[in-house]
Amino acid sequence: MREIVSCIDYVGVNDRTTQKFEALWPLPQGVSYNSYIVRGSKCTAMIDAVEISQCEHLLKNMNGAQPDYLVINHMEPDHSGAIPVLRKYFPQMTIVGNIKTLDMVKNYYGIEDNVLKIADGEELDLGGLTLRFYLTPMIHWPETMMTYVPERKLLFTGDAFGCFGALNGAVTDSDIDISPYIPEMYRYYSNIVGKYGTFVQKAINKLNCIEANYLCPTHGPVWHENLRYISSIYNRLSKYEAEPGVVIVYGSMYGNTEDMAELIADQLVQEGVRNIRIHNASYTDLSYILSDIFKYNGLIIGAPTYSNGLYPPVEAVLNAIKVRELKNRYVGAFGSFTWAPQSLKRIKTILQEMSLCTEDIPTAETKCGVSDTAKVQCISLAKEIAAKVLS
Ligand code: FEO
Repeated sequence: MREIVSCIDYVGVNDRTTQKFEALWPLPQGVSYNSYIVRGSKCTAMIDAVEISQCEHLLKNMNGAQPDYLVINHMEPDHSGAIPVLRKYFPQMTIVGNIKTLDMVKNYYGIEDNVLKIADGEELDLGGLTLRFYLTPMIHWPETMMTYVPERKLLFTGDAFGCFGALNGAVTDSDIDISPYIPEMYRYYSNIVGKYGTFVQKAINKLNCIEANYLCPTHGPVWHENLRYISSIYNRLSKYEAEPGVVIVYGSMYGNTEDMAELIADQLVQEGVRNIRIHNASYTDLSYILSDIFKYNGLIIGAPTYSNGLYPPVEAVLNAIKVRELKNRYVGAFGSFTWAPQSLKRIKTILQEMSLCTEDIPTAETKCGVSDTAKVQCISLAKEIAAKVLS
């Protein structure tokens, strides 16, 4: 148990053994499942729980605390998995959530008794400390909400403002080097929350009326000293705003499409672009590709034709971008083929189906090896994208 502010403690856990979050997203630096205890003079509340395999650590960290309430800001099982065990340990503990939360509690865990349904703006008096609930749906599930403690100007934010990466000794950002967590925040946001930028914006606008000195998410550090910086990252990401730079994602079976990627990158540098990230979609995990695509304002996709269609690893990346409803990028496309010129056509079609860009997409295409004409097209494509991303 570690104090965040007076009467509010961290009791969360680190998970350094799960390989992939949601069985999808790599966790090379682990992940934390954050849980907190708020001690009023009359009652004690636990805010969010942990994943089922971490119950023992959670109970140990609680150090004998006897919660009267368990507030559930988010029901995804990385936080709610411990609920049945907690209910057994603390049968008197009332589970607090909104109507959607409690429906999930019933359907996941068969629990319907000793629950308290709260509405938007409602408060729970713990004695000297108040919990005020703000419904913030679709960050990134329908039941998501946040809990504010006005007396401490502290907001429990659920997954919002969270990041991958287990905690390294300390909990609050003031006590650590936050630099390893920033890329992990981009990755977490783009992988998990990215589709729901509009809802994140709604929540940010709704919570503008409160003053928060502490943001306590369900993953990663508590933000205090860097609260403004972190909020600005979140605000920018959820508006799909990005910094100048170009991500080149390509697939290549025998090196010809790859040669085009290198040519384009070389020209981008000559045009003055400094942030360039090249990903071979067959080898870089999608998690990291998405993270860079959310970070930079230029995106160039290339692939060979495969079975009269698009090379599968690149198609998977495009589908992932489409699902996330990414907006406002400067995009280009390139492709290669031997007898069926399908890949470039398919990339352009998918890009145009998205609301990713409003302008014509510059392209380059080659048949078999990289032709002189294709080289000229690659240079021209790079010049056009460079001019836009740097404008
Ligand atoms: Fe951390 Fe959406 O669960």
